[in-house]
Amino acid sequence: MLITLEGIDGTGKSTLHAALAEPLADLQPVFTREPGATWVGDSVRRAIAEQTDPVTEALLFVADHAAHLATIVRPALAQKKLVISDRYTDSRYAYQSVTLEGVISEPLAWLQSLHNGWTIVPDRTFLLVLPVDVAFERLKAKDGREHFERKEVLEKVQKNYLELARRDPSRFIIIDASLEKEEIVQFVASAIRQLSGLSRSRRRR
Ligand code: TYD
Repeated sequence: MLITLEGIDGTGKSTLHAALAEPLADLQPVFTREPGATWVGDSVRRAIAEQTDPVTEALLFVADHAAHLATIVRPALAQKKLVISDRYTDSRYAYQSVTLEGVISEPLAWLQSLHNGWTIVPDRTFLLVLPVDVAFERLKAKDGREHFERKEVLEKVQKNYLELARRDPSRFIIIDASLEKEEIVQFVASAIRQLSGLSRSRRRR
């Protein structure tokens, strides 16, 4: 089963990802992320830092996804493991739709067509939603901000995420990221536990 965590920068998504390890330890999940831990992921981070052109950057994110699927996601799913990814394809749909605005006429359709036929759609996606002002305040505390982490960009990215969720309500679970961290961790952990139980009993039938 493939679970993904999504949301704009500053929503606490990566903190949640790390905090799920303990309550879900018995399920032995594979924790992973995009951009990934391979050399392709490194080149994505380099492209972000150097602000290459937006098409190059988008294609590198897609290449990173391909490497991630090949090296981690597909092998783990083939072994019936639970995979929990911090960011995945919806990050591209939400962020690159913004960075490609005015560069490509229909960025979302272009991005979707790049993934069609070989990607794996997550079973469930937890989308952390927070007022952009609050997310932005949290980010201010960190230095070395990326070019995505501008308020106008994050506003648009969050709008895109919400539109993706509206179009696919059976996959997305929207989380109020202003709740206490413990409450969020418990809710998401028990939802994942329930989903993984369901998928197991389905397989037995
Ligand atoms: P992030 O998970 O925030 O990494 P870090 O822990 O290094 O901050 O991802 C880096 C940035 O890349 C983040 O602002 C979101 C952006 N991003 C995209 O624009 N498209 C994508 O497909 C992915 C995976 C990330």
